[in-house]
Amino acid sequence: MSSSAILVTGGAGFIGSNFVLQWVSNEHAPVVVLDSLTYAGNLSNLADVSADPRYRFVHGDIGDRETVRELLHRDRPGAIVHFAAESHVDRSIQGPDDFIRTNVNGTFSLLEETRAYWSQLPEDQKSEFRFLHVSTDEVYGSLRPEAPPFSETTAYAPNSPYSASKAASDHLVRAYHHTYGFPTLTTNCSNNYGPYQFPEKLIPLVLLNATSGKQIPVYGDGQNVRDWLFVSDHCAAIRAVLAGGRVGETYNIGGGSEKTNLEIIHTICSVLDELRPDDAVVPHAELITFIKDRPGHDRRYAIDARKIERELGWKPRETFETGMRKTVDWYLANENWVRGVTSGSYREWMAEQYAL
Ligand code: NAD
Ligand code: TYD
Repeated sequence: MSSSAILVTGGAGFIGSNFVLQWVSNEHAPVVVLDSLTYAGNLSNLADVSADPRYRFVHGDIGDRETVRELLHRDRPGAIVHFAAESHVDRSIQGPDDFIRTNVNGTFSLLEETRAYWSQLPEDQKSEFRFLHVSTDEVYGSLRPEAPPFSETTAYAPNSPYSASKAASDHLVRAYHHTYGFPTLTTNCSNNYGPYQFPEKLIPLVLLNATSGKQIPVYGDGQNVRDWLFVSDHCAAIRAVLAGGRVGETYNIGGGSEKTNLEIIHTICSVLDELRPDDAVVPHAELITFIKDRPGHDRRYAIDARKIERELGWKPRETFETGMRKTVDWYLANENWVRGVTSGSYREWMAEQYAL
């Protein structure tokens, strides 16, 4: 790959920051992060690279075309990895506007500005340029228990405002390749977990509530299934697609690790019973509380990741057990990070969502 900079949108969020940290430790090319720092963006995630001369942070919105234009002309990236999005299903149910604004309109603006920049590049740089769009398996909708996992040819059937907004952005990316020959790559990944995940999502929320003696809220019967992938494996997959993926193609990325929500919660509780025997409530599973189901709650997601393995040789390195152990250890060792992100608007969200 060329040594031009890469632009990472949403690089201060959960997956984006893991990606930037992994990139700086493994690659030579400089990295520019563009992030508007919503409640989910946190510059402390990037503290380990903040002094690296190959890293630059730009505070801005992907929908602000002037900011994006200036950045593209100043940094002249050879690739864009587009993570920036509103990413939480429950928030999309309570207030879909931001999801349309960022995921649909923001992606559209970014595509337009990037296409204009790309079209005036010299031929050699133009043919090497890549726009990698990071998407989700949720665009495929919900699977029946016996159905085969989602492949790259599964029809789109998004069910939440979040997944509909991601599906819309995937369609725009596809159309930019088809219509303009714009060099896109799209990845559709299953549920991630690991360090720096904001504690509105299941795994860090359970960890946080369990260690502080608060109820662990389970939506519905807890039998919904997700295919869990440790975040560093997702980041490695994106690097593989960027380096060797075929232009215009999509690649599904998954952990091959389907679990019900209750299995996840019981796993976390038993690791905590061992590591934190003096917490306020032990066994931690006593905190499990069944609450009203999420409206339109998808029953099952699962990914068929054979294409990326066959074409690019990528496979997850972590098992669910090793990834989960790393995750629990990280959250227990980083209480300051947790305290930093759980003030203010986080408390308001918890009160509104869970009436706790
Ligand atoms: P996140 O919510 O943790 O981070 C999103 C980041 O984008 C934040 O830093 C936020 O400040 C930034 N951002 C939001 N709106 C912006 C805007 N208008 N302009 C610039 N920056 C903006 O999300 P995540 O979990 O890291 O997910 C990253 C991407 O991966 C998303 O596109 C998501 O759809 C996709 N994805 C996530 C998962 C998952 O399990 N978390 C799984 C598959 C795909
Ligand atoms: P989440 O982490 O929000 O990811 P997604 O909805 O994108 O898959 O939720 C994962 C699963 O956990 C999903 O089935 C909803 C469920 N869940 C709960 O049961 N309780 C909770 O408090 C949360 C946040 C999620």
